[in-house]
Amino acid sequence: MADNFQVTKDGKLKHLLSIDGLSKEIIIDIFNMAESFLKIGSRDVKKVPLLRGKTVCNLFFENSTRTRTTFEIAAKRLSADVINLDIPTSSQSKGESILDTVNNLIAMGADIFVVRHGIPKTPEIIAKAVNNDVHIINGGDGNHAHPTQGLLDSFTIRRFKKEFSNLKVAVVGDIKHSRVARSEVCALSTLGVPEIRVVGPDNLMPDDLDNLNLIHFNDLKKGLKDVDVIMMLRLQKERMEDGDIPSEEDYFKQFGLKRDHLRIAHPDAIIMHPGPINRGIEIESEVADCKQSVILSQVTFGIAIRMAVMTMLISKKL
Ligand code: CP
Repeated sequence: MADNFQVTKDGKLKHLLSIDGLSKEIIIDIFNMAESFLKIGSRDVKKVPLLRGKTVCNLFFENSTRTRTTFEIAAKRLSADVINLDIPTSSQSKGESILDTVNNLIAMGADIFVVRHGIPKTPEIIAKAVNNDVHIINGGDGNHAHPTQGLLDSFTIRRFKKEFSNLKVAVVGDIKHSRVARSEVCALSTLGVPEIRVVGPDNLMPDDLDNLNLIHFNDLKKGLKDVDVIMMLRLQKERMEDGDIPSEEDYFKQFGLKRDHLRIAHPDAIIMHPGPINRGIEIESEVADCKQSVILSQVTFGIAIRMAVMTMLISKKL
């Protein structure tokens, strides 16, 4: 859990490190602001001046396509200047510490840092060390949290399903190593989803499963019965140990989402995946591209959510 220093005493968002500790009101405020930014995304001129004069710095110590690019697009649509520090060619290779790197970038005028790192809580450590005028956003830290992914996934569900209070959601796959699953479950619980299922092999469930108020199924067909939302997860191979799955082929046979499964879920169920997709391992290609799939909408909505988060961090009024 992130300390609540990510929200000030008067309720203003100062950093975004984890969904844990965010109120339903803050999440809904982010969603409502994101709705207005979605409209900007459909205009010819997709720019507003809300972050003019500000500098956003992307610090990605792990690879990324969606998160890094959508943060860059979001910042540019808000008229901010954007720095993408190329970590492999930066002075990190000469032994500079992360905090020294961050402090040097602050000396150059950076206002917001988006930090992705393999070690859990790295963004939190940075947030505790920087001065009051700088804002840290967690872009994914180890298996701990990926808060903007949790927000954009919940926002996608709200756009397609309208209400959270009557939903059955199944999160399927490698829950244990997934920062997305943790942020997703936390966001959906806070928003009042009454039934959240986690579906996958016993050994890919988190140790604290019993504390999370989730229903575990180790049979995909049973876990998908009548669900409104199917959230498939990537196998986090970079965080797995040998033998965690028997083989990718066997995993796909047991837990890969296939066309036949869609008959078990609610007929209007939506299919989600945070990406990157491993086609033929987590999900059949045909299903990833079918009409019920909202996977690319998740990516588009991610820009609006990231615009909203950065605007809230910088805003003096909220
Ligand atoms: N969903 C997600 O975090 O994708 P990237 O790793 O490409 O950023």
